[in-house]
Amino acid sequence: MNYPSRPTWAEIDLLALKHNLQQAVSFCSAPQRILAVVKADAYGHGAIQVTRALQSYGVHDFAVATLEEALELRHAGISDNLLVFGSCFPGQEGAFLQHNLMPTLLDKETALRLNTEALRQKLQLKVHLKVDSGMGRVGFLPQQLQDFLPQLSQLDGLVIEGFMSHLACADELRSPVTADQQERFRTMLERVRQAGIEPREIHLNNSAGLSGWECPECTLSRPGIMLYGGLPGVDFSAKLDLQPVMHLRSCIAQLRQLPAGSGISYGHCYHAHTDMQVAVLPIGYADGYNRLFSNCGQGILRGQKIPVIGRVCMDWIMLDVSTLSNVRVGDCVTLLGEADGLSILGDDWAEQLDTISYEVFCGVGSRVPRRYLPEI
Ligand SMILES: Cc1ncc(COP(=O)(O)O)c(C=O)c1O
Repeated sequence: MNYPSRPTWAEIDLLALKHNLQQAVSFCSAPQRILAVVKADAYGHGAIQVTRALQSYGVHDFAVATLEEALELRHAGISDNLLVFGSCFPGQEGAFLQHNLMPTLLDKETALRLNTEALRQKLQLKVHLKVDSGMGRVGFLPQQLQDFLPQLSQLDGLVIEGFMSHLACADELRSPVTADQQERFRTMLERVRQAGIEPREIHLNNSAGLSGWECPECTLSRPGIMLYGGLPGVDFSAKLDLQPVMHLRSCIAQLRQLPAGSGISYGHCYHAHTDMQVAVLPIGYADGYNRLFSNCGQGILRGQKIPVIGRVCMDWIMLDVSTLSNVRVGDCVTLLGEADGLSILGDDWAEQLDTISYEVFCGVGSRVPRRYLPEI
């Protein structure tokens, strides 16, 4: 049966995505290419649609975090280069080979498992070798790499297609850590080459690295957040001209005239100080509208920013629209993104919630339908 959904949705502006991609490209020195990071459902924007849009803008290298995310793209018919950041866990080797997916090689044991399976199937698997140049998370440490290189170079089931590392502090433009990491990255690359391995792809930079630090030896850059219009760090607003891609909107379900003194929502943590007109929207924390916005969120309606009042519920929020005379049930309120020349950005939410815009976008609930503009 066909019926309209609850009037709450996330509009995904694919032209803004294109604009942000062009920004990323402008920081790449030719012939560097973009390896677009579309993990976590393209940071909540919809991996299949975002990947297809990026393909149409000329990107043909993508990265996700898990095998499942990669298979979602493969099942949607996306056959471009696909790197899985999150390694290959025991038992997943066959799926990587079957679907031509490139795992990130993080340790010796995984390398040996993958090699065994590839040889058993009389195939070769392309992998990207990841080194820990100072991130302190995953990847070969310098000594581990040094010890493993003689054996790695003999693993005939593997093709070391890429050499990569990840930056820990590139979002702080003056951090000395990034220069140290670059230095270690180059030294480890040199060691790999001395062992007779010549990776076709070399990559280090995320959005912050790409827009703040040069990597002349790199063939790829791996932007994520900047593609979606989020700043990689507070210092980047002057450097980057980004457009928000996601606009979270919800339409007024009820308009209520409440007398002075009325308590509003759970806990009555807000009381009407005068007679008030209150708009109720069908969106709540189950949709990613954080409960911390109780009594302090904002929405854009008819060219004004209007305050959220009372507790944010799982499925509803209330806004004070007393200052507006011509509000109607069905009017659309923008809670994240742009409307009427005003904006409430992912970075604004992040500041209010003491987090980063990455978490804001990923947190927009899966029950919120994504609508793509222009339609794809
Ligand atoms: C290995 C790796 N590369 C690139 C990125 C993209 O980073 P950003 O979204 O900061 O551009 C990520 C994201 O966390 C990552 O884990």
